Amino acid sequence: MNDFINEPLLELRRAPVRANLTEAMTALDAQLPWRVPVIVGGERRDEPSFTSHDPGTPDRTVAHVTAATPQDVDAAVHAAAHAAPEWEARGAHARAAILSRAAGELRGRRQRLAALAVRECGKPWAEADADVCETIDFLEYYAQQAIALEHADGLVQLPGERNTLRYAARGVVAVVGPWNFPLAIPAGMVAAGLATGNGVVLKPAEQSPACALAVVEAFHAAGVPPAALNLLPGEGDVGAALVAHPGVHTIAFTGSGAVGLEILKTAAEVRPGQRHLKRVVAEMGGKNCVIVDADADLDDVVPALVYSAFGFAGQKCSAAARALVHQRIADTLVERLHGAVDQLLIDQAERFGVDVPPVIEAAARERIDGFVRTAHEQGARVHQPGTVPAAGHFVAPAVIDGLPAGSRVTEEEIFGPVLAVESVASVDEAVEIVANLPFALTGGLFSRDPATVERVSRALPVGNLYVNRHITGAMVGRQPFGGNRLSGTGTKAGGPDYLLHFVEPRVVTEDT
Ligand code: SER
Repeated sequence: MNDFINEPLLELRRAPVRANLTEAMTALDAQLPWRVPVIVGGERRDEPSFTSHDPGTPDRTVAHVTAATPQDVDAAVHAAAHAAPEWEARGAHARAAILSRAAGELRGRRQRLAALAVRECGKPWAEADADVCETIDFLEYYAQQAIALEHADGLVQLPGERNTLRYAARGVVAVVGPWNFPLAIPAGMVAAGLATGNGVVLKPAEQSPACALAVVEAFHAAGVPPAALNLLPGEGDVGAALVAHPGVHTIAFTGSGAVGLEILKTAAEVRPGQRHLKRVVAEMGGKNCVIVDADADLDDVVPALVYSAFGFAGQKCSAAARALVHQRIADTLVERLHGAVDQLLIDQAERFGVDVPPVIEAAARERIDGFVRTAHEQGARVHQPGTVPAAGHFVAPAVIDGLPAGSRVTEEEIFGPVLAVESVASVDEAVEIVANLPFALTGGLFSRDPATVERVSRALPVGNLYVNRHITGAMVGRQPFGGNRLSGTGTKAGGPDYLLHFVEPRVVTEDT
């Protein structure tokens, strides 16, 4: 995959670029609220029953949304199943051309899409723009990968015998997406399903249905047959019904561990009329640790840790949650982290340069505040400076040290702007801690010793380890992303083997 290059980010330091984005936001605001219908087989059913909101200004409704019914779920799976054979028969080149055209559609409206992610999910501009770029990357990358897969062979041939390996679409892919990368992650999973010739049904997170609609419209505008991609907005019951449907072959999920485990359980059940085993591609939670050795350059460590822990208010499954710091430098690092956190700008996502935007919803704020309260109650030192805007679901970033062993603050995923700092006697002690965690998504290491880097890289079970840099922001094609253990099924979005999860291999042997 040599000719793939990542979509360039916007240069937000340039005033005209910022002006374009502000203009896109003004234009978007003039259209709000959107209406997000159920879309099945190209037919729209628009009878809104719930809404999505701006997390920074909860009074602002972003979309009036129609929740899918069990009948919609059934109709969507049938529509996708019906559309899939013709879509697959077009061949990888034709499908790839359409995905590439969809990427072009997204490129053409990138400011507007970024504005939508800012509004509906509280993503700061830089993060929202990166989300748009990653969306484009997934489409272009999987388009190329699907072509490569169609030409994959490599079987041993003998005289008088011809062996052929072909990867066929599995059928219907159910995509259950998250709100934190409201464009890129659902679009990536959809693109993987479509690129390989499957029909797709997308159930987006209830917090980000408008972003999902924008993605679906781009695919349809580019020529994806309407019935090959269906949209089922709704709450968890819609996702549960979709996952359980006997007509679904593959489930691509990104979200919480609890939901992921439920999906795996449901998928294991073979229902009446089902003649296949469901396959689950799941990206779940993490409790990501950054190990800082005594020889680390703190000028690198501090900004990288701060960005990894507090960027987008810590609402990335890749975010840093624990810093395991060599005892020789732990006090200095904590002091410097306090100084850095004092400088963070906590404000509305649309303000250029904001560091910590609001969290997604009131329940998230309450959950995160609960962890900070626990830290206080357990006698830890909590550094949580900064005033937060009155409206909106804001949580000030917190650096916590002195937690007792086994605290839920160090054990459970918080999904917010909270970083626990722990002192360790050595890198090996830190490795031991990470090696015993149930999660294994991302991790970080700061060390100047190549032997330490090599040793730690081999020992850590995490899916993505970053050395001497921040630990979020995996790039399609460069850092295939996904975790092990209870963090996921070990699959790698944006990597060379991802599409294999969406196909079934068939071998034909012919005597010649
Ligand atoms: N892919 C994202 C990252 O690397 C997380 O989902 O930050």
